[in-house]
Amino acid sequence: MENRSQWGTRLGFLLAAMGSAIGLGNIWRFPATAFDNGGGAFFIPYLFALLTAGIPLLIMEYTIGHKYRSSAPRSFKRVSKGMEWIGWWQIGISFIISAYYPIIVAWAAMYAYFSFGQSWGDDPTGFFVGDFLQLADAGTFGSMVPAVLFPLLAIWAVVFLILGRGIKKGIEVANKIFIPLLAIIFIIIVIRAITLPGAVDGLEAFFAPDWSTILDGSVWVAAYGQIFFSLSIAFAIMITYASYLPKKSDITNNAFITGFANSSFELLAGIGVFAALGFMANQAGVAVSEVARGGVGLAFMVFPEIISQMPASGLFGFLFFASLVLAGLSSLISISETYIAGIQEKFNISRGLAVAIGGGIAAVASLFFANQGGLNLLDTVDYFINNYGVALAGLFEVVAIAWFARSLKDLQNYANDVSDIKLGYWWRFCLTFITPAVLGYMMLQNLSNDIANNYGDYPIDFLFNFGWVVAIGAMFFGALMTTKKWPNE
Ligand code: PHE
Repeated sequence: MENRSQWGTRLGFLLAAMGSAIGLGNIWRFPATAFDNGGGAFFIPYLFALLTAGIPLLIMEYTIGHKYRSSAPRSFKRVSKGMEWIGWWQIGISFIISAYYPIIVAWAAMYAYFSFGQSWGDDPTGFFVGDFLQLADAGTFGSMVPAVLFPLLAIWAVVFLILGRGIKKGIEVANKIFIPLLAIIFIIIVIRAITLPGAVDGLEAFFAPDWSTILDGSVWVAAYGQIFFSLSIAFAIMITYASYLPKKSDITNNAFITGFANSSFELLAGIGVFAALGFMANQAGVAVSEVARGGVGLAFMVFPEIISQMPASGLFGFLFFASLVLAGLSSLISISETYIAGIQEKFNISRGLAVAIGGGIAAVASLFFANQGGLNLLDTVDYFINNYGVALAGLFEVVAIAWFARSLKDLQNYANDVSDIKLGYWWRFCLTFITPAVLGYMMLQNLSNDIANNYGDYPIDFLFNFGWVVAIGAMFFGALMTTKKWPNE
């Protein structure tokens, strides 16, 4: 343990943590979520969620990683014996995400290239699902799609290279390049977007507050959901990254910096995306709300259209998709590191071997998304793994620590010893009451919703096999891994 790898600099750790936090969630999830949940009024629940759950949990995860200096399962085990499986469960979730996240990065890489010639012609949606993905009917898989498969393999090669070089020489160096570059590219994109005709309409639509929704439970759930996903909480990521911090590191300060940097990037993305949507609505002579959307549809259907209509569009398109690639890669690296650290410690193997095994299995798993059914599978797995993976595992995590292990006071003292900003009663209060209450409510709402309605328009057996079974499978994986003993114990 004395030889545990460490970050070279504080900035290196911060950039890596920001690299994990700043992902597709910031670029394509936040703008649409804010817009759908009250626009400007959404900032109140959002800030509330950041301060009562996001940053407090981030502090908790940083503290656990720093204090126990191990992978997530082993750190949890050191908090309290019965908690090991939550760590493996979170690793299982991260593993599943790492099987489909690189697919999106691969699409984005192809689209960065397509931008120059605007390969999508005048029907970007048809091009995306037809020519590019050759999308099969819901529930079927068809054959492999070479235009996805080859960039996917290239992405994995880059990830293997970075992870194989270790924490300081690999992950830290990569993020020191990726994140500043991403910030520069993004600022260029935003400046270009807000100077387009119609941008103001987009911004007005984005910021216009709809106060009538503010007391709506679902708006608050959306805010907490966004914060959790966006800050990479309950993925085992932040515990793993914090376990590589040198002994003398300020914990609370680092958590505030990560949290605010991530939210600033979200706000910036909201401005850039809605300015561009305003331009598009203006060109088409429709309301902004008619073109506003998030996720895959925003990036691969709406943005190509915006790009086509812009002056000097090739470069803008390239920068937009390059920013998705950079944001996605740094998140993918962080999520893969969770299981690499876990299996390295559990099986007492070298880092190189852990990268080869963990990354290798994930790369093979990602092939299931590189076929003609890839988009449908990805959409389903993503929905279930977020709702019944990340959010549920987060609930178990706080409840186990705050209620059962009763370790918050301990963790608080530990963090206060090394940090400038001192934690007080409010921190424990947020984690003991507010976070479990919101996550519990969120879970009940999602459950009743998903039992009453089939998600998307997918056949029920497809949802069962690739939604429920996959999400619950991560829990079983957690239990299975827990049965094996740690070396030297
Ligand atoms: N915080 C990430 C985001 O906003 C979430 C994430 C982390 C997703 C790691 C995948 C891998 O996109």
